[in-house]
Amino acid sequence: MRETRSAVRVRATARTRAGEGRGWTMDTQKRNAEKNKERGDERLTESGIPVKPVYRPRDLSERGFDYERRLGDPGEFPYTRGVYGTMYRGRPWTMRQYAGFGTAKETNARFKYLTDAGQTGLSTAFDLPTQMGRDSDHPLAVGEVGKVGVAIDSLLDMRDLFDGIPLAEVSTSMTINATASTLLLLYSLVAEEQGARPEEITGTTQNDILKEYLARGTYIYPPAPSMRLTTDMFAYCARELPRWNTISISGYHIREAGSTAVQELAFTLSNAIAYVEAAVEAGLEVDEFAPRLSFFFNAHNDLFQEVAKYRAARRMWAKIMKDRFGATSEKSLKLRFHTQTAGSSLTAQQAENNIVRTTVQALSAVLGGTQSLHTNAFDEALALPTERSARIALRTQQILASEGGVTDTADPLAGSYYVESLTEEVEEAAWEYIRRIDDLGGSVAAIEDRYMQGEIEEAAYRYQREVESGERVIVGVNRHESEGDPEMELHSVDESIQEKQTERLREVRESRDSAAVERNLAALKGAAENGDNLLYPMKEALAELATLGEVSDTLRSVFGEYRP
Ligand code: 3HC
Repeated sequence: MRETRSAVRVRATARTRAGEGRGWTMDTQKRNAEKNKERGDERLTESGIPVKPVYRPRDLSERGFDYERRLGDPGEFPYTRGVYGTMYRGRPWTMRQYAGFGTAKETNARFKYLTDAGQTGLSTAFDLPTQMGRDSDHPLAVGEVGKVGVAIDSLLDMRDLFDGIPLAEVSTSMTINATASTLLLLYSLVAEEQGARPEEITGTTQNDILKEYLARGTYIYPPAPSMRLTTDMFAYCARELPRWNTISISGYHIREAGSTAVQELAFTLSNAIAYVEAAVEAGLEVDEFAPRLSFFFNAHNDLFQEVAKYRAARRMWAKIMKDRFGATSEKSLKLRFHTQTAGSSLTAQQAENNIVRTTVQALSAVLGGTQSLHTNAFDEALALPTERSARIALRTQQILASEGGVTDTADPLAGSYYVESLTEEVEEAAWEYIRRIDDLGGSVAAIEDRYMQGEIEEAAYRYQREVESGERVIVGVNRHESEGDPEMELHSVDESIQEKQTERLREVRESRDSAAVERNLAALKGAAENGDNLLYPMKEALAELATLGEVSDTLRSVFGEYRP
């Protein structure tokens, strides 16, 4: 790995603060800001990387920048310019709008509305009880059923969710982590009932439990059994669902928690390294599962830094998989990712301004070579999207693709003195964090030490201080404010959903073969105790109408729950 002057400087910083576990830290950024002040020119990217007034060829030649070695062609190692040779000229990115609320029938209707409006992939949001392994009639589910996503308790709900949608022809993302294997198996049961063959079933389970401990919070079990559930899914899909993307290793939520772009990139790749190490330790061949790993990044403000982040991500991952894990399959080296525009950047004030923010952010994802994209709706700082705001969000992507001229050529910003310099700088700073996390024993240890959480909290605090001081402008919030925004039609969730789901659960429990359910849940418990792959007995139980809560409780009885 190249050691450069900025990495040396940052490494020196790291050494002087070894005890504090410092890498590319807020101190580095503060020092850069002071340096810029001396020069009377205070321009840093949001990650604290100094930005020069002008970039010239020597900014690259002084780095010994070698186009062939540092870029390659699109679709060629190290994939800096994109994972496919023709990129969007061959196939535009997937327009995949995150959707889900209320009952399965209500979400099914929204899926169809968005598909009729032209989206090209499905993306499912589940309510918190589903994400936390609780049935809708559990006491802890009160007030949350159908709120932030769709309520799924059993195979009956999953059938309703995809009713009239040919699962052999679509790709479906499911934002589900602790209960990812349960939802994947319910999805595959419905697809099989429709007649889909295993090689036709494609989509993605987020299944990234480490970032749940780090940022998002929907974990159930302690890290070790959670990692086992993840690697069991890797093994299951390698054998049974060859086109399923088993994990979407997410930087999105890390950034939403307040990290910088560099931290988002570094912590995501460190988590990815931990998953690959866990799978290899579980006996899997790296080229057996790595082609179906995928990633998920944020598209935040500071367009050029975001583009640099995605380009650096591809080059770093290719190097990690080749040099650190000895992957040989080309598909193992390619970092394919989904992007969502930054929910945390949306403002409640002058909400229509969010359409412009989302457009700029979506443009950074496209110029950065995303494979799949969700654009936020302008009213999402206030509520879930209405049909109208969801359509505007999708139209944003369609206008970029059809009128913006951004699909004609791959990686159009390549060769820019600024973008290439910034890609180098983002990469160097991210490597410094990865080395620091390696020194701490990897992501699981670093998370248990709260190292990453500390860095994120410091970055979030600095960012908020800049907003409150006015140093960081948020139009409509701390500059160009206005009084009395117009009333907007907002989405609301039907409060009767809890009774509907409770009634549906009563039907499920009365209609099923309870002895078969008990037998299969006992088999699942046995597999949890003796280390067998959990997905096979879990699928049997779900097919007999075991509920998501019963499956999760069976695993709780063996693994316990994580208490940070
Ligand atoms: N040339 C040749 N082939 C091409 C091509 C080109 N230019 N472009 C695409 N293709 C091919 C691909 O090889 C692929 O073929 P395959 O299925 O046989 O491999 C097919 O076309 C589809 O292309 P992609 O796989 O690139 O695109 P997908 O959209 O299918 O997959 C992904 C993208 C990133 C790999 C996948 O993992 C994905 O869809 N992820 C989505 C994750 C997601 O939606 N997450 C939402 C989370 S919401 C959340 O968490 C936020 C909340 O908490 C607030």
